[in-house]
Amino acid sequence: MAEKGPIGVFDSGYGGLTVLKSLVEKLPNHEFLYLGDNARTPYGTRSFETIYRYTLQSVKYLFSQGCPLIIVACNTASAKALRNIQQKDLPTIAPDRRVLGVLRPTTETIGNQTSTGHIGILGTRGTIQSESYLIEIKKFFPHLKVSQEICPMWVPLVENGEQDGPGADYFVQKNLNHILKADDKIDTLLLACTHYPLLIPKIKQFLPPNIKIIDQGKIVADSLFDYLNRHPEIEEKLRKSGSVKFLTTDDENAFNEKATLFYGKKTITEKTDLNIR
Ligand code: DGL
Repeated sequence: MAEKGPIGVFDSGYGGLTVLKSLVEKLPNHEFLYLGDNARTPYGTRSFETIYRYTLQSVKYLFSQGCPLIIVACNTASAKALRNIQQKDLPTIAPDRRVLGVLRPTTETIGNQTSTGHIGILGTRGTIQSESYLIEIKKFFPHLKVSQEICPMWVPLVENGEQDGPGADYFVQKNLNHILKADDKIDTLLLACTHYPLLIPKIKQFLPPNIKIIDQGKIVADSLFDYLNRHPEIEEKLRKSGSVKFLTTDDENAFNEKATLFYGKKTITEKTDLNIR
């Protein structure tokens, strides 16, 4: 049998660490390899072509590191690049391996969270303009009323450590007011960006208490757990060392400094240039 390998977890930077945290909690014996493309973050403002190219390069790199399965823990990359990679690239570059995203697990369960049938999606420009959430939710919950809101300043606020500061008040309030004005029956708000969980205390400060905030970590972890039960042929290729390794495309010390905020624990990170040797 071929050598076993870790589950690769990819994000444009730090955001995917909020998902990794839930994955490790759910699958503590599995081995994980996290890759943050911090040198090229943010992805949310970039073109389809660029996000696709960056994501594909990172996926190929994680394959070269022996990952039989990769979770793209970035909404922007999942919305803009994943389908192409799964349908166009995977059959030729790695037909026996799998790449999964965060969109599908979220869209197939989100309708169960709402009582009014009205939900709001908050995300980056890339995610929202792709309309991937609207398209996917319609497949599972055709009667749901879905409003979307681009929150362009939320990732920079988090990236710059301003999520608890007074500067965040203005932008968080502005986007929440805007989406709730568009539909005052919204009772469920999806944080469709892996950076946004860090803003939850601030969001709660300005959101009516009857509105539920959904973050994706647990949803993605539960979905992966089910997936591995249904796909023993993938599960048996995964190494169970219980270790978590971290890679970044930018400065490893800067990554370690910020990562704790997202991951909740200290990280030891190596730098990679994504060249496959
Ligand atoms: N974490 C990414 C997401 O979930 C957004 C960050 C970025 O723009 O690169 O969409």
